[in-house]
Amino acid sequence: MAELTEIRIQDLDTQEFIKMKSEEISALVGSGLAINALSGGVDSSAVTMLGHKALGSRLRTYFINNGIMRKDEPQQIVSIFERLGVKVEIIDAQDKFFKALKGITDPEEKREAIAQTFYKDIFAKLIKESKAKYLLQGTILTDVDETVAGIKRQHNVFEQLGIDPQEAFGYKIIEPLVQLRKDGVRKLAEALGLPKSIFKRMPFPGPALAARIIGEVTPEKIGVVRIATSVIEEELKDTDAFQYMAILHQDRVTGMRDGKRDFGLQIEIRCWDSVDARHAKPTRLSFDKLDSLSNRMVIEVPGVVSVTYNITSKPPSTMEAI
Ligand code: XMP
Repeated sequence: MAELTEIRIQDLDTQEFIKMKSEEISALVGSGLAINALSGGVDSSAVTMLGHKALGSRLRTYFINNGIMRKDEPQQIVSIFERLGVKVEIIDAQDKFFKALKGITDPEEKREAIAQTFYKDIFAKLIKESKAKYLLQGTILTDVDETVAGIKRQHNVFEQLGIDPQEAFGYKIIEPLVQLRKDGVRKLAEALGLPKSIFKRMPFPGPALAARIIGEVTPEKIGVVRIATSVIEEELKDTDAFQYMAILHQDRVTGMRDGKRDFGLQIEIRCWDSVDARHAKPTRLSFDKLDSLSNRMVIEVPGVVSVTYNITSKPPSTMEAI
C-alpha cells in the first residue's frame, strides 16, 4: 500500500481540490450510482457536498439512525441538508446496532461490532438495493494514522489494514479526503458552501455515544449519556475548546440523596484543547464552570452521584474513553 501524501492546510487550494476530486469521483463512478452515509460531522458532510457536485442524482445519501447519536441529531442534520438542496433518507437501524453491541464490553470489539453492522449489513444492503457500486466516505489521514499505529481501530479504515472492501463487503470505497486533516476538511467544507454549524462542528466519533460508555452499551445507558452530552454541549458551547464530552463509567460509587444511600453512576467530563486531535491538553476550565456542570449533571442526569474532570493530556490519554 503506497504511503499517503498529506495535503497540509497551507497548501490546500480548495477550488483546485474540489475540481480535481469531482473529476476523479465522476470518472470512477461513470454512469453508475454511488451511495454515502451522512452523519453530520464535518468529514461526512464535506464528502456529501463534494459527491453531489461530482455526481448529482447519481449519489444517494443516507443518514443511518444507529440509535447511538445525540439528541434529535438525525432530524437536525437532514433538515440542514434539505435547505442546501440535498435529499437525505433516514434509515432506522437502531435495533441492529443494539443487537450487535449486546454483551460486548471490550472497546475494540465494540468498534468492530459497529463497523461490521455498518459495512456488512447496512451499506451492503443499500448497495444491493440501489445497484450502486461505490460507497463514498470521509476517512481522513488521522483516522488512517491511528488505526495503522494500532491505537484505535477507526470504523472506516480498511485498505491500510490489508482489507479489500470489494472482497470483504462486495463494493468499492472512494475516500476523497484521505490526504487531509481536520483543519483542511473544515476549510474545504466552508468552500463547498456548508454552513458554519457544519464546518465548525465539533468532531464526533464514528462509534458515536458508544465511544462514551465504559462497558456494555445498552439503550438505557445511551439514554443516560445522551442527556449528559446535551448538558455539556450547552454549558461549553461558548468555549474555544476543540472537543468536549461526557463519559459514563461502569463502576458505581456510593453517594447520598434525600438522606439515603444512593449507589449511583459516575460521569467523567473531558474537554480538550487541540489543533488536529493528535495531541491534546485538558482545557483549563474555571472551577465555577466545573461547578455548574457538576450541579446540572446530578440534577438532570438520572442516577448520577459523582462527576469528575479528566486532567490528563493526550498522550498517554486518548480523547475518547474507549
Ligand atoms: P482519540 O480518542 O483517538 O480521538 O484520541 C481522536 C479524535 O478522533 C475521534 N475518534 C473517532 N472518530 N471513528 C471516528 O470517526 C472512531 O472510531 C473514532 N475514535 C475517536 C475523536 O472523537 C477525536 O476527535
